[in-house]
Amino acid sequence: MPNARRIAEIARAAREWRHDLHMNPELQFDVHRTAGIIATRLREFGCDDVATGIGRTGVVGLIRGRARGEGAIALRADMDALPIMEATDAPHASRVAGLMHACGHDGHSAMLLGAARYLAETRDFAGSVAVVFQPAEENGGAGAKAMVDDGMMERFGIREVYGMHNMPGIPVGAFAIRQGAMMASSTRVEITVEGKGGHAAKPHLCIDPIVVAAQIVSALQTVASRSAPPLDGVVLSITMMNAGTAFNVIPQTAYIGGTLRTLRDETRVMAEKRINEIAAGVAAAHGARATVTLTTGYPVTENHPAQTAMARRAALDVAGVEAVDVDMVPSMGAEDFSFMLLARPGAFIFIGNGDTPGLHHPRYDFNDEALPAGIGYWARLVETVAPLAP
Ligand code: NI
Repeated sequence: MPNARRIAEIARAAREWRHDLHMNPELQFDVHRTAGIIATRLREFGCDDVATGIGRTGVVGLIRGRARGEGAIALRADMDALPIMEATDAPHASRVAGLMHACGHDGHSAMLLGAARYLAETRDFAGSVAVVFQPAEENGGAGAKAMVDDGMMERFGIREVYGMHNMPGIPVGAFAIRQGAMMASSTRVEITVEGKGGHAAKPHLCIDPIVVAAQIVSALQTVASRSAPPLDGVVLSITMMNAGTAFNVIPQTAYIGGTLRTLRDETRVMAEKRINEIAAGVAAAHGARATVTLTTGYPVTENHPAQTAMARRAALDVAGVEAVDVDMVPSMGAEDFSFMLLARPGAFIFIGNGDTPGLHHPRYDFNDEALPAGIGYWARLVETVAPLAP
């Protein structure tokens, strides 16, 4: 087991690192300061190799264990913040107006830095560990894909990948995981309905796109309720409707926007087909025309069986049986770590952030009390996956 006293000492330093990152949030791929600080620390810790500029601004530190082993285990954190005005009164609140670490990626980076320090000191594992810091997880940036496409897996001989995200509502020091689909795929849905505009007092001379759009939105509710198997995970949320500019004008077009989330790829394909059919069919029934644009985003985050077992084992060792949900209900959120899981087998886990405001809320803050648990989990995971004496 990792040395708890040393982990606690490192967690105290990680708190300072986190506060510094929190005060200086950066967006998407423009995480130059954050990546620079991380690379400097990894070199200070004595990593055997520190590579920058992977997938534009990603950083990878390689740490060799005491014993030979096959390939490297990758541990991944994300570095980017969000375009939200921070509303906490924390002393370490964002110094950049309109940007904040509202998803705890500052905490993820600090925990992985802590783990890198511990692993570089102890090296009680076989083979290598690659600590991976990625840009652009938020808002469809797909920084994980950029790093995979840049040859990260081959360059560092990565054979398995592990990721971690904090979750408000789960107690601090606790974990949640499941085998198989853990988080959803996301598809952006856009529909433009083209009718025939005109005077609001003469609807019989127009084709009202607002009436058509309203019926499309209603009919889309049947994708989840009638077209998907009852126990399958699918969400179709229409979140935008825009049409019209005046009280007395029937507009020419109406716009509908939203997001589709599924836990299986077959369900995504089925739902996308139904969205196309419903939009085209309802529009045609009224003499209007619908143009559908579906933009596939992040794939399903699918935990592999053997690696999920390793992650569960490590979490149970660190947190105890009472504090690990080993078969959590999947989240319909999406996560670009899914691209790494498509490239290599691995597992993603949630770490509790306690009873705090939710992710992406202006009053959210990563919980520093979670730092020792997160660092301990990473250290224990490496000892579990690549033990010195198998
Ligand atoms: Ni996040």
